[in-house]
Amino acid sequence: MIRARGLTKTFSRRKETVEAVKGIDVDVAEGELVAFLGPNGAGKSTTLRMLTSLLEPTAGEATVAGYDVVTHPAQVRARLGFIGQGNGGGFSYKVVDELHNQGRFYGLTPQVYKERAADLMAALELGSLEKRSVQSLSGGQRRRLDVALGLMNHPPLLFLDEPTTGLDPHSRANLWGHITAMRERYGMTVVLTTHYLDEADSMAERVVVIDHGEIIADAAPHALKRRYADDTLTLVVATDDGAAVRAALPDGLGDVDLTAHDAGLQVRVGTAQGADTLPAVIEALRVAGIPTTSASARQASLDDVFLNLTGRSLREEAAA
Ligand SMILES: Nc1ncnc2c1ncn2[C@@H]1O[C@H](COP(=O)(O)OP(=O)(O)O)[C@@H](O)[C@H]1O
Ligand SMILES: [Mg+2]
Repeated sequence: MIRARGLTKTFSRRKETVEAVKGIDVDVAEGELVAFLGPNGAGKSTTLRMLTSLLEPTAGEATVAGYDVVTHPAQVRARLGFIGQGNGGGFSYKVVDELHNQGRFYGLTPQVYKERAADLMAALELGSLEKRSVQSLSGGQRRRLDVALGLMNHPPLLFLDEPTTGLDPHSRANLWGHITAMRERYGMTVVLTTHYLDEADSMAERVVVIDHGEIIADAAPHALKRRYADDTLTLVVATDDGAAVRAALPDGLGDVDLTAHDAGLQVRVGTAQGADTLPAVIEALRVAGIPTTSASARQASLDDVFLNLTGRSLREEAAA
């Protein structure tokens, strides 16, 4: 559905040049749901704008649904829905009029666009809101309307740029539910961007991590975590003897971090096998005469992956 090679965008403003996208290669198969994950300024929107033919690449090439984005933009646009960052709707319009207008823009007949609008409003829980003005909608409702607008032409490919940004966790989960339901219903390919690690982790089947205009990793979330980050075991042991703790721990664990704790020492250690390693660690300490008073295992997160790949925490950057 998408094939990009060396896709590059450099912006020049006066004397300043910004290498927004630095030669990315990416393939998306029909039916996939792919999340581009990266901090602000990583180049996510610029990439989407090139793939949707809105922005001409400085270098490289991309085909979407088999058509070159530079030489065949009309064919590309006819096959996709694009929901950009921020809201596309006219604030004073009614929900139903927005959808009908969108249908007219695509050259649909009134019979077809009315049918589709009714269908999408029902599917996206907008039915009771059809006479409401866009400006009166909540953030989550507005984004659902955006999704409906993007689907009026029944595109085989849907792009959504940060669809969940600014929504509370409940609305985000709700929107993802709708996006995946729409994808099943229409058999669409979906490409979306997000800077939320947790939703990329739990919802996306494939995550393309992008930073400073480059793709730095591309795999399923569990594969990324297995490859780039360790799970962490945290134990509290009833001893102050750090050297004895280190000596007692089984081989094959990652870095060991010891800190003072009321009950003795807190031990943090990385492991590829996660919670499965915990009993063996506790047993090894017990054999060495060191009792464990509490223990927990934390699975690696996509933030650990991002941290290990870039040396920066995406969670902290997003919070900042
Ligand atoms: N029209 C533009 N002119 C100049 N710089 C731009 C323009 N659009 C984006 N940029 C810059 O390109 C970089 C990538 O931006 P963007 O693709 O919007 O990132 P993201 O969507 O991941 O937050 C940023 O440094 C941004 O400031
Ligand atoms: Mg963006």
